[in-house]
Amino acid sequence: MGIGLASARAIAAEGARVAFAARRVEVLREVVEEVGAHCMALACDVRDPASCAAVVEQSVAAFGGLDALVYSPGITLYNPIEEMDAEAWQNTLETNVMGATLVTRAAISHLKESRGKAVFFSSIAVDDHPPRYGMAPYVVSKVALETLVRAWQGEHHDVGFTTIAMGDTISGKVVESDIEVLQDLVQRWTSKGYMYGRMMEAESVAAQVVSVLRSPETVRRLAITPNYSEEDRVIETTIAHRER
Ligand SMILES: NC(=O)c1ccc[n+]([C@@H]2O[C@H](COP(=O)([O-])OP(=O)(O)OC[C@H]3O[C@@H](n4cnc5c(N)ncnc54)[C@H](OP(=O)(O)O)[C@@H]3O)[C@@H](O)[C@H]2O)c1
Repeated sequence: MGIGLASARAIAAEGARVAFAARRVEVLREVVEEVGAHCMALACDVRDPASCAAVVEQSVAAFGGLDALVYSPGITLYNPIEEMDAEAWQNTLETNVMGATLVTRAAISHLKESRGKAVFFSSIAVDDHPPRYGMAPYVVSKVALETLVRAWQGEHHDVGFTTIAMGDTISGKVVESDIEVLQDLVQRWTSKGYMYGRMMEAESVAAQVVSVLRSPETVRRLAITPNYSEEDRVIETTIAHRER
């Protein structure tokens, strides 16, 4: 399960009415059936401005307002510079950065009205110096996202903006073709001291999202890392997870 989906489920379990949004709406419909009729599934591609506006409009129309936005979409390409073509850059920046601005633009008046909260998923990879090998485009996108959110904190004092920079987390993203690439990269990152020996569960991060939304205060930036483990289980966990 992806971290956004785990978060949406956790928020819905608190009784909140949640619009789950992603491109594969059929997957979300199945989840919403389990979660309950107080929630709904909406199709959205954050690379499309009209789709970003529509998902906010539909949510507001159904729920009568908007108390919170959680922006999870993010893609990671593990490419050094010579392997990043224009299309790969465009896709990374459109999904990880521009989509966040388009959804927030559509939601901002509603969030101001409710004095609501907006949470954006970043990565502890932005704190690594130098960034992990092959992660430059991703890190650039998350640094840009964190900078945007800091700017929005200054622009809109009546909305609680948060970035959550998280460490390696088991999610729904591992496909067979990534495994070989990841095995090499994880070994390389481990030898340079970037890894923690284990990964967090998506549900563990989701609990932190709920806590941020529930807080009467604004958490501006939260950084969550796995506890260190002597026993290195990252590659094993990644492989075990490929079919989830
Ligand atoms: N997992 C980690 O170790 C980790 C660590 C640090 C930060 N993060 C960040 O946490 C966030 C979630 O990561 P994850 O590992 O849960 O990723 P994931 O499992 O790949 O899930 C990403 C979700 O985003 C949706 N999505 C992708 N492109 C989209 C688009 N153009 N429009 C709308 N929805 C789109 C996908 O659904 P559809 O395909 O159906 O659209 C998917 O449900 C990302 O921003 C990631 O950078 C993850």
